Amino acid sequence: MTATKPDLGTWVGKGIDRVDGPHKVTGTAPYASDITLPGMVHAVVVTSTVGAGTVTKIDTSALLTLPGVRAVFTHENFPRLNPPPPVLFGEAPVAPMQDGRIVFHGQEVAVVVADTLQEATEAARLIEVTYAPEPVLLDPADGQLEPLALSPDTSRGDTEAGWAAADVRVGATYRTPENTNNPLGLMGCVAAWDGDHLEIHDSTQGTNALRTTLAVMFGVPESGVRVRVPYLGGGFGAGLNQWPYKLLAAGAARELGRPVKLMLTRPQMFKLVGHRPSSEHQVRIGADRDGTLTMIEHRATTLSSIDFPAVGLLTSGTPHLYHCPNVATVERTVRLNRRYPTSMRAPGEAEGNWAIETAMDELAHELGMDPLELRLRNLATDLDPATGKPWSSNAVIECCRVGAELFGWSRRDPRPSSMREGDLLIGWGMAATGFFAYMPMSQARVTVYADGTAAVRSAATDIGTGTYTIITQLAADLLGLHPQQVDFQLGDSDMPASAHSGGSGLATSLSNAVIDAVAHLQGALLDLVGDDSPLHGLGPDDVVCRDGALCRRDDPSVRALIAALLAGQGLVEASGDGRLRPPDAAAAGMVHAGPYGARFVEVAIDPMIGRLRVRRVVSVTDGGRILNQKLARSQILGATVGGIGQALFEDTLTDPGTGRVANGTFGDYLVAVNADVPDVEVVFIGEPDRYTPSGTKGIGEIGLVGVAAAIGNAVHHATGRRIRDLPITVDQLM
Ligand code: MOS
Repeated sequence: MTATKPDLGTWVGKGIDRVDGPHKVTGTAPYASDITLPGMVHAVVVTSTVGAGTVTKIDTSALLTLPGVRAVFTHENFPRLNPPPPVLFGEAPVAPMQDGRIVFHGQEVAVVVADTLQEATEAARLIEVTYAPEPVLLDPADGQLEPLALSPDTSRGDTEAGWAAADVRVGATYRTPENTNNPLGLMGCVAAWDGDHLEIHDSTQGTNALRTTLAVMFGVPESGVRVRVPYLGGGFGAGLNQWPYKLLAAGAARELGRPVKLMLTRPQMFKLVGHRPSSEHQVRIGADRDGTLTMIEHRATTLSSIDFPAVGLLTSGTPHLYHCPNVATVERTVRLNRRYPTSMRAPGEAEGNWAIETAMDELAHELGMDPLELRLRNLATDLDPATGKPWSSNAVIECCRVGAELFGWSRRDPRPSSMREGDLLIGWGMAATGFFAYMPMSQARVTVYADGTAAVRSAATDIGTGTYTIITQLAADLLGLHPQQVDFQLGDSDMPASAHSGGSGLATSLSNAVIDAVAHLQGALLDLVGDDSPLHGLGPDDVVCRDGALCRRDDPSVRALIAALLAGQGLVEASGDGRLRPPDAAAAGMVHAGPYGARFVEVAIDPMIGRLRVRRVVSVTDGGRILNQKLARSQILGATVGGIGQALFEDTLTDPGTGRVANGTFGDYLVAVNADVPDVEVVFIGEPDRYTPSGTKGIGEIGLVGVAAAIGNAVHHATGRRIRDLPITVDQLM
């Protein structure tokens, strides 16, 4: 059953407060770290102090005599696990402590379990591990280039011919450093077995992927594993993969026959739950004298760990943003003795956009053309230039125009260092952005009760982005109820299976699953209608739920109370199950478009001391149908802060001799703080997307994309200095 276009608008779009807000601010929202179970013991992970080699000896006998210590697990006594299943992007998790092999500095080598966290921490501090170290391979030159599953090479036209034919050419190498996701909530779990049944409270972004992983690796049925994640303290991608710590906690709990709590420390968050790996981009762009692009070539390389490759996606946006007959992308990775890479907010796009949108600014400068004008001339807003098919929606040019107007771009003097305020150099920069459309499968169940209330259930998670609230608003509109009459329960793998919160995919996926579920609910309610009812004979698309009644869509005064329909059959509730039903893209004749945007930035630079201040940001996004204006704005604001961090601060440093994280604390790893963030003007434009009934696009990541390039381009405008390596630091501006 395909739902007809839903009637939305009473609650959908409104900037209502988070329905889960009161729970969060009163401390009643249970995060994994809050869970305490009877008989629970505490586990602390011990990590390697060499970057490559083998564990030769771990002396645990003395530790076991310490107060409270119950067990020390190492590769010698930790249970053997089944091979991991591929649960995300075809990548399998890593089975920990199966042998003594060390492939990165900071890898899990032991787990100490004690009655209290303090006792476990103290014993973990005293543990002595002996290694047979091996040379640590950290330099890309030490490894073999290999392709990335999600980033196949692409090519259209003839880039060499396009290069030869160009009147103006730019070519340069751009770099981005390693960044660490660092959600505010430390990640961890409480695992408890009851016979062969495992229940785990975790901070995963995907309950069903964790359920599958645990079931397969511990050799129990999926029905015997329950994953609970009603709340988690952010993710930014760090919660996407099913990291070893969860397997360590579950294994220890099974061996000990007790619930085990394992929370990572902040320094361990830098080692054990992924990061955005560093990247290098060689870009060549050619254009005619009038600014029409003749070729784009984007060759990118990123770093992987030995056991776990990077996601890549560094070049994924490049073939699609601009009209250009000749485009080639090539992406490779190298496996080294580095920590596990993972998705970090706008994975790949954030780095690739830095390279392409800086190169476009360089091209505009070479052409003597306004960088905005260069974008407007080439942006592919009408169709996808890679396939030639129309987008389901794409307002990127309107994003640029609206942003330029709000920013006052027409007052920009194009000459570098021409705009000054006293001793300060003022720079204005911009960048265009896109983000891929990703829509994993979700399911949901919608239930109505005789008292007129309703519940929505799905195994989805809310990583803080607002899933609870937007789905409550949507269900309220679909059922004709007030949001307070709708209870949305999520974060439990026993509920209808759902995708992870990731890839900016959940809002679209889940909203369409709920629309489908309500259509099925209407069908289930019609089944209860008697032969003599004026609703008899109608189809699910002919009726709507309004105020506790099933009504004719075209004449809501023709209605039957849901309570009466239920009572007539001796029922107390009725449900509809739904899932995402993606349209047949070929039949639909269009390409599913992700969100688009434009970023405009003003910087002020004091050249005497190299101080850079971001003074203004105008961020315009085509996010399709916005489900909640307030929460959507918060997504873009937060992502803008992340973009400022990417541009100016974030840089996970690896000791080149050992592979150790050199700045793995919040004292040493800089992020943008309030004083670094100016007024940010957030604007949404565009129409509901045509691709799905809900019309939404994912906006969790797009807000970050383009911020770094806009800042770098503003720096060039202010100083005449072209910076191609992030982050942009004081020493580069003096
Ligand atoms: Mo996002 S990096 O897909 O959690």
